[in-house]
Parts: sequence; structure tokens; C-alpha cells
Amino acid sequence: MDYRIRPALRFRGRWPAAGDKSITHRALLCGALAEGVTELRNANRGEDCARTRALVEALGIQVEDLGRGHLRLTGRGGRFRAPAGPLDAGGSATTLRLAAGLLAAQPFETVLDGDASLRRRPMARVAEPLAALGARVTPADGGTPPLRVQGGALRGAAVASPVASGQVKTAFLLAALQAAGESRFTEPRPSRDHGERLLARMGAVIARDGETLVLAGPQALRGVSLAIPGDLSAAAFLLGAALLVEGGSVVVRGVGINPTRDGFLRIVERMGGRLAAYHPREEAGEPVADLLAQHSRLRAVEVAPDDVPSLIDELPLLALLAARATGTSRFHGLGELRVKESDRLAGTADLIAAFGGRARVEADSLVVEGGRPLRGAEVDPRGDHRLAMAAAVLGLAVPGRTVVRGAECAAASFPEFFSLARRFSGGALTQAAAEGA
Ligand code: S3P
Repeated sequence: MDYRIRPALRFRGRWPAAGDKSITHRALLCGALAEGVTELRNANRGEDCARTRALVEALGIQVEDLGRGHLRLTGRGGRFRAPAGPLDAGGSATTLRLAAGLLAAQPFETVLDGDASLRRRPMARVAEPLAALGARVTPADGGTPPLRVQGGALRGAAVASPVASGQVKTAFLLAALQAAGESRFTEPRPSRDHGERLLARMGAVIARDGETLVLAGPQALRGVSLAIPGDLSAAAFLLGAALLVEGGSVVVRGVGINPTRDGFLRIVERMGGRLAAYHPREEAGEPVADLLAQHSRLRAVEVAPDDVPSLIDELPLLALLAARATGTSRFHGLGELRVKESDRLAGTADLIAAFGGRARVEADSLVVEGGRPLRGAEVDPRGDHRLAMAAAVLGLAVPGRTVVRGAECAAASFPEFFSLARRFSGGALTQAAAEGA
């Protein structure tokens, strides 16, 4: 499905943010491992989280769908049914990597697989820490899925991960909870900490020794009731469009502003973007606020490698904002973007070039020359949801017509995006198939 986009004359609206994808994945898997009922309100309704839900069901855990993102599952204290065949994570690396940790201690073999995009993504980063616990986790030649997980008894171990990855950290913690003895986990920079927060809420005891997480296993989890905070990584696209479109103004309510995730907000503020956070509060052990973004004149920014883990999924959008800012922006330490749903480093530079802007990749950095005249473009986001939504946002803000090919990929994380953007823009986006009808 293609979307045609014309310059928006407005971009205004309010939205109660849909649930965070990272937290929803974790709540489903931890709920499956726990004893008793876990209830999720405002669960993310994208395709990636649907894969995690299906995986949990394939392990014999019943998940009741009570509608509008309300799910109820009954954990069985980690007593899973051996799945009948390979488990398909679709395009969701979070599903696959976290499931590897969950299943590493189970008394059966599981094969975890995914679509063509997931089959290109590195798995040694999760296989090696799990192997340190005594698990046998074997990727295909090339270190990619399918991943064979031969579960068994695990013993605690100390691991220093070479990558700052919330997925790797949570996968390790899920396995370490089921291992005998003390486990320690260190990462080079702090990645998102949703796993630690959720596990603590479910009764796990995880200590900190400086930068190292310390956990004595085995530990049991108990089911909880959670209102999942809104997803900043989804809200960012609506906030970004409000920043770029003349007269734009958007309020997104109930957005997670966890400091390990809020880099987008901090960088936009440094660019001179008008952002405000209201009613700070806590939901499910996570900080949450209502966010207002208004049309702004943006200036260039420098992003350091230390900033990157907290904005990794927002990087393509930030780079497009930089293309509309005055001055040259530099984003450093972006190597991880190469191994996302697509090579987002090259993909982001190509998107900017397609709109008539100038961006270049220099080693692991992206340099974006702002202030150049941009115009609508026909773009193929290569099946990558975040590139598709970023392109649509820029299309709303520049003269001429934009076409986003294969826009249905947005449903991986944010199935509501195109219809909301259509509403907020007064109809500036049209589904191409419907246009001639
Ligand atoms: C995620 C972590 C990040 C992020 C992904 C979701 C998670 O990946 O890009 O969209 O839920 O833990 P990495 O762990 O590979 O950095």
C-alpha cells in the first residue's frame, strides 16, 4: 500500500499514546514466566508485539484479548509446553532475542526464526551471553536466524556485553533469573532499562554494583497488573510533524519519558524545538508525561555516541528534522543503525538525498547539511517502519508531492500512524489505492 502526501496546511491534534512496544514485549514474556495472572492495559497493538503474543501462546500460555489493548495472561511459573515447530518472530528482533533468553533454561529445543529482514540481523550478541550461562544457542552460519535454542540447566555467570542493547540485557536477565547462582551483567553504555524496572515490579531482586547488574538465581516472578506507558518512539513522529508543519501543535498524552529512552526530547530541545512536558507521573514503574510540540525553527545539533542508545529508534526522524534546520548537524556513534530492520544509516542518508537534501555517512557518523531547499519525493522505505513514518513526516512539511511506497510496514510498531497523521493534517495523506476510487 502506498501513501501520497501533500504539504500539510495544518498539523494539529491530541492523542492518548498507544502502549510502548518495548514494554509490551517484556510484559508478555515476563507474564508468561511468572506465576499467576498478568493484566496489561494499553498494550502495543503493532505486528511486532503480536508476534511475541503468538510465541507465548505457542508455549502453552493462554492470552485473553479483552479489546482495546487490554490483555490478560496466566503464567505457569515457567512451565512451558514444547512448541510444535519453529517459532516465527516475523520482523521482530525483540521477540526473537528476548525469547532466546526466556527459553534457554527450558527442557526442550526451540528454533526461533523470522522473515527475510530478521534473517539478516546479528544473533551472536545474544547467543554468547546465554552460552556463558551454559545454554546452547546456535545461530545459522553467518550468526543470523534461525536460532536453535537447546534449553537446559543454567548456572550464573558474569558477562560484559560489547554492545549497549536493551534486547541483549533483557534476554540475559530472563535466562539468569532461571539460572542457579549469581549472574552479573555489564554493558558499555546504559541501554533502555524497561526489563529491570518490570522485573523488579514482578518481585525480582536485581542489585547494582556500579554499572553492573547483579542477580542471584533462581528467582520466581509474580503476575502484575500494568498500564503500559505510551510509546515515545511512536509519539515522536506526531511531535516531529508538529515541529515541522507551519502552525503545527500536537499533544500526546501519557508518553513514557524514561531517561534511557528520552534522547529525542533532549535533542529536539537543543535544536530549539518548542516542547513541553505536563503532569509528570508514574505508570507501571515508569515515568510518564503529557507532551506538547509546536511548530519551531530548528537549528543544527551535535549528537555524541553517549546520546545514541536513548534515541536509537528516533535517529532517522531526528536526521530529517536536521535536514530542515539551519546549519550542519553531526550524529556520531551510529554503527548499530546498520543492523536494524534495514541499514538505517544508509537508508536515512538516502531519504534525505531523495528529498533534495544533503547527508553523508562518514564511518559511523551521519552529517546532515540543513537549510537546503527540499521538495517532495517518491521513496521506498525498504519495508522499514521507522523510515516509512519519518519520510511521511517530512513529506507533510515540504512543497510538492511525496509518495511513500509500502507504507503498511508502519504497522510493525504504530498501526495507527497513517490514519492519525491524516486526521491531524486535515487529509494531507491519502492511501494511493483509494485515491482514484
Ligand atoms: C529494543 C531495543 C533497541 C531498539 C528496538 C527495541 C528493546 O534495540 O532499537 O527497537 O525493546 O529492547 P537494541 O537492543 O538492538 O539496541
